[in-house]
Amino acid sequence: MMPPDQETTSVTGCPGPVNNNNVIKCNRSENNSSVHVQPLNSTSNVDQISDELHETPVRFPILRQSLQPVTLKFEDVSYTINLGATGGGCFSISSSHPKLNLAVLNGVSGIVRPGELLAMLGPSGSGKTTLLTALSGRLPGKVSGTITYNGLPFSSSMKRKTGFVSQDDVLYPHLTVFETLTYAAFLRLPNKLTREQKIEQAELIIMELGLTRCRNSMVGSPVLRGLSGGERKRVSIGQEMLVNPSLLLLDEPTSGLDSTTAQRIIATLRWLAKGGRTVITTIHQPSSRMYRMFDKVLVISEGYPIYSGNASLVMEYFASIGYLPGFNFVNPADFLLDLANGVVPDTRQDDQTEFPGRPDHQDDKNSIRQFLVSSYKKNLYPSLKDEIQRSNQVPIHPGGVSTSKSSENQWTTSWWLQFKVLFSRGLKERKHESYSGLRIFQVMSVSILSGLLWWHSGTIHIQDQVGLLFFFSIFWGFFPLFNAIFAFPQEQPMLIRERSSGMYRLSTYFFARTVGDLPMELVLPTIFVTVTYWMGGLKPSLVTFVLTLLIILYNVLVSQGLGLALGAILMDLKQAATLSSVMMLVFLLASGYYIQHVPPFIAWLKYVSFSHYCYKLLVGVQYSKNELYECGVGVQCRVMDNPAIKFLGIDNMVRDVAALAVMLVGYRLLAYVALRLGQPH
Ligand SMILES: Nc1ncnc2c1ncn2[C@@H]1O[C@H](COP(=O)(O)OP(=O)(O)OP(=O)(O)O)[C@@H](O)[C@H]1O
Ligand SMILES: [Mg+2]
Repeated sequence: MMPPDQETTSVTGCPGPVNNNNVIKCNRSENNSSVHVQPLNSTSNVDQISDELHETPVRFPILRQSLQPVTLKFEDVSYTINLGATGGGCFSISSSHPKLNLAVLNGVSGIVRPGELLAMLGPSGSGKTTLLTALSGRLPGKVSGTITYNGLPFSSSMKRKTGFVSQDDVLYPHLTVFETLTYAAFLRLPNKLTREQKIEQAELIIMELGLTRCRNSMVGSPVLRGLSGGERKRVSIGQEMLVNPSLLLLDEPTSGLDSTTAQRIIATLRWLAKGGRTVITTIHQPSSRMYRMFDKVLVISEGYPIYSGNASLVMEYFASIGYLPGFNFVNPADFLLDLANGVVPDTRQDDQTEFPGRPDHQDDKNSIRQFLVSSYKKNLYPSLKDEIQRSNQVPIHPGGVSTSKSSENQWTTSWWLQFKVLFSRGLKERKHESYSGLRIFQVMSVSILSGLLWWHSGTIHIQDQVGLLFFFSIFWGFFPLFNAIFAFPQEQPMLIRERSSGMYRLSTYFFARTVGDLPMELVLPTIFVTVTYWMGGLKPSLVTFVLTLLIILYNVLVSQGLGLALGAILMDLKQAATLSSVMMLVFLLASGYYIQHVPPFIAWLKYVSFSHYCYKLLVGVQYSKNELYECGVGVQCRVMDNPAIKFLGIDNMVRDVAALAVMLVGYRLLAYVALRLGQPH
């Protein structure tokens, strides 16, 4: 089985648009029909690659080759962050600190062609993740220098051809490995493929990444035991491999893995690269076996490049500036990391005289680093710049990156399919949280306790009955509000990751979330009201009961909308929880139960309180206009004349329903706008 696009290219045997300029040469090895790309300027040896491909078993029949090869060039990339400017959502109210700038990257350059695997090496904090994020077009803020993809800047169409595996795995903890990969396949693979083909693709990835054993295990999270760290990482890689990206960027794909699995992952990356993809990975401590699989390396030290070029020439270069390991069998990666840390490894003693200006063991780390950076600028940078400039003159794969408006706006899947998949995924993921034992206990205990407290209260104690109705409106105002404020801040990393890959529209996500809320959030209030209504001795009429239930469910949706809006606006749980508790207290006081004679200048507060409308509606449906109650011994009074109820003014219930409708739509609209403004792209 093959996606239609790939079928076409495999017939020609050329993984991408090959034009008359003969920019790319395609070779087809006869025995296994593997296809690879040999860029014109690449120093790789065609025969050598062919041999390696003969050794590599043909895996992923449908992922054999890249559809549109991408040449990535980055020149003098620099990035500075303002340490005082980090913060939460689009309207974050965090205080600003004095401005402090940190230069994370300083003039990093390089060129990676289709078919090449570039490894970024450097000590922790040297800027590898930052550079990788910049190359994936996901770095917020201004990156100086130029980054081009086939000679063009980053675009939406490039976004969908780029696979990015972040250092921290962002996965839904309650989904199984199979579910995670099939949902990703449904969302990311084109409409041309059938549902079965997409599932088959996910199964292939599971096999390829050795995840068969844990196929049906939950992914888990730091607090929920699930997959091991290495397995989780492989699931993240699988999600990106699914779409057969032309440019694949991985942040430490081997960290935390045993050496055999790590080796296997790097071998897979190399195999993917040889299929015409451009692969860039950051890596800590590769073994020398792994190092040999890299085509290029970029070594960064505190944001400055100290080497950028062919992996096989690295030792030669450092020997030329006076750093040659004292013994023969050294892992080049260890040697490079020592140098990037400003530590001079054991070098040959007789070299001392040959390189008089070279810093040595006893010199401080900074002067060693400075020497390496200035050597890079003097010896490597000019030729690298020249290579980048030269390749600028050749139009590389002009068909590679489409810039037409229509292609930029194209989604791989339809709105409706995205909605269905996100809805079903949301239900699967959230059912654990919405129906957790703790939450059921919380609701049921309050329900039974309040039923017992108000046990068979009749109209004889009308004040108590009204109190129960008020309690309904407040409890089902607070509870959904506090649950909803978590929604967007918690899902933000996932939303950013998936939206950065162009997986779905924000509107689809938002609608799927809103519709998914209905079964998730309305079941518990229904049970609560059913239990407490009848225990509490409210009007024994089915119509009144159903109306009461509908009003409370309506109230739940409105308060949930407010919670979603607060979460989306602030994107900070602490701030959102504080603000919502203040708002809810104000609504509670302004609802008209506790205080009736409010000064006119603040009386308007009740009109913004959804609990006020809910309370009014509940009282309105509970008592009919001419209903009587015993207001004294043998004295009958009209319920509507009771001071507390009279004050509420239950005269126009349609207006109350309309006010809640405005809030229902308004809060959700506000949440959507806040999410849209808070999106990085
Ligand atoms: N948003 C940020 N706020 C503060 N500091 C940041 C931010 N982003 C990056 N940095 C700093 O920039 C430097 C480079 O970070 P980066 O994550 O790129 O390092 P790295 O090479 O990937 O490290 P590691 O190997 O540990 O993953 C670090 O010193 C880090 O603290
Ligand atoms: Mg990192």
